[in-house]
Amino acid sequence: MNKNVIFLGIESSCDETAASIVKQDKHGKVKILSNIVSSQIKEHQPFGGVVPELAARSHVEKIDIIIKKAIQKSKIPIQKITGVATTAGPGLLVCLMVGMSAGKTIATFLKKPFLAINHLEGHALSPRLIKKIKFPYLLLLISGGHTQFLEVQGVNKYKRLGTTIDDALGEAFDKTAKILGIEFPGGPKIEKYAARGNENGFVLPKPILHKSGCNLSFAGLKTAVLHASKKIKNKQDKYNLAASFQHTINEILKVKSKKAMQLFLENNKQNKENYFVIAGGVASNKTIRKNLQEVCKSMGFKYIFPPSELCTDNAAMIAWAGIERYQKKLIDDVTFTARPRWPLDEKAPFLKGAGVDHSQK
Ligand code: KG4
Ligand code: ZN
Repeated sequence: MNKNVIFLGIESSCDETAASIVKQDKHGKVKILSNIVSSQIKEHQPFGGVVPELAARSHVEKIDIIIKKAIQKSKIPIQKITGVATTAGPGLLVCLMVGMSAGKTIATFLKKPFLAINHLEGHALSPRLIKKIKFPYLLLLISGGHTQFLEVQGVNKYKRLGTTIDDALGEAFDKTAKILGIEFPGGPKIEKYAARGNENGFVLPKPILHKSGCNLSFAGLKTAVLHASKKIKNKQDKYNLAASFQHTINEILKVKSKKAMQLFLENNKQNKENYFVIAGGVASNKTIRKNLQEVCKSMGFKYIFPPSELCTDNAAMIAWAGIERYQKKLIDDVTFTARPRWPLDEKAPFLKGAGVDHSQK
C-alpha cells in the first residue's frame, strides 16, 4: 500500500438504493466518507413483499440523486476516486441492472477501473471495515435472502460450512410477522413484540437441530407458528408467540453456531486467534447479538458484530469489497453482466428441501 485508495460503491440488488465513498489511506487506515441508503419499504408495504418491477423503477428514479449525495457528503471531487465498485449479484436482475449501468457509466466517463461485486462478498468483508482482522474467520450471514455459515479464507476465497435448506432466517422473521398481522418487513417489529412477551408461552420445533451439521431449516418452524397463531386470543398472546419464536431461533443459532465453530477449528488448527463475525439484516437483532456473543465466549472465539447500518444492505460494504479486490488486482471491466444467482462458494452443492443428506451429526 503506497497510495490512498478511494472507491465509489453502488448497491441496488433488492429494495435499497445505496451509494458510498470509502477511503483507505496509504497506511491502511479505513474511513467511510459517506454512506447513503434510501429504503423502498413504504413502496412495497401494500404488497407484503418486494415487487421487482416496482423496485427497479424506484432505483431508476433515485440512483442519480443518491450517488450525487454520496459524492457531495464525502467532499471528494469525483475525479479523485480510484475506481467504481457496483453490486453485480446475487439479487433481482431488473434491480441489479440499474446500479450496474450507473456504475459502468461513471467508470467509463472518468476512465477509472470498474469492479463487479458479489453482494455476499460485501457482507463477508464488512467486519474488516471496522477492524483489520486476519483471514480466515467464521461468518454467519443472516439476511432476508441468505442464511449461511462461511469460512472467509481471503478475498475471493470462501468455503461454505452450512446453509439453510429452505427459508432464509429473515424470511422466517417476515413470515412470522405476517402471521401476527405485522406489516412487511416484520423482523424489527417481531423483536419489539418479543420484548413484551413470555418466551415460554408457546413450544415450537427446532428442525434438524441435531442433524445435518451446521445446516439450518426454518420451514417447519414457520408452519408451527401458523398453527400456534390459531390459539391467539389477545395482544399478549401475540407478544408471547413472537417471544417464543425469537427464543427458538436463538436456541437454534446457539447449537448451530457451536457446530460451525467446531468445524472451523478443525479446518484451521494453525489459527492463533479465531474470530466470529455476523452480517445481514437479521444481525441487527439485539437478542441474537447477545446470544451469539455468549456462544463466542464459551467457545473461545473473539467477535466483531458490525453496527446495524453496516449489517443491513448498504453501499459502504460494496465500496470496501471494491478496495479489497482492487488491492489484490481483481479488476473487472464494463462487459461484466449482472448475475441473479451467484454463490460465494461455487463448489458447495445446492441444498434445498427433500433429498438433503441429514446423516451428518
Ligand atoms: O440484509 P438485509 O437488509 O436485506 C437482504 O435481505 O439482503 O436483511 C433484511 C432482513 C429482513 O428479512 C428483515 O425483516 C430482517 O432482515 N431484519 C430483522 C431485524 N432487522 C431486520 N430480523 C430480526 N430482527 C431485527 N431487528
Ligand atoms: Zn444483503
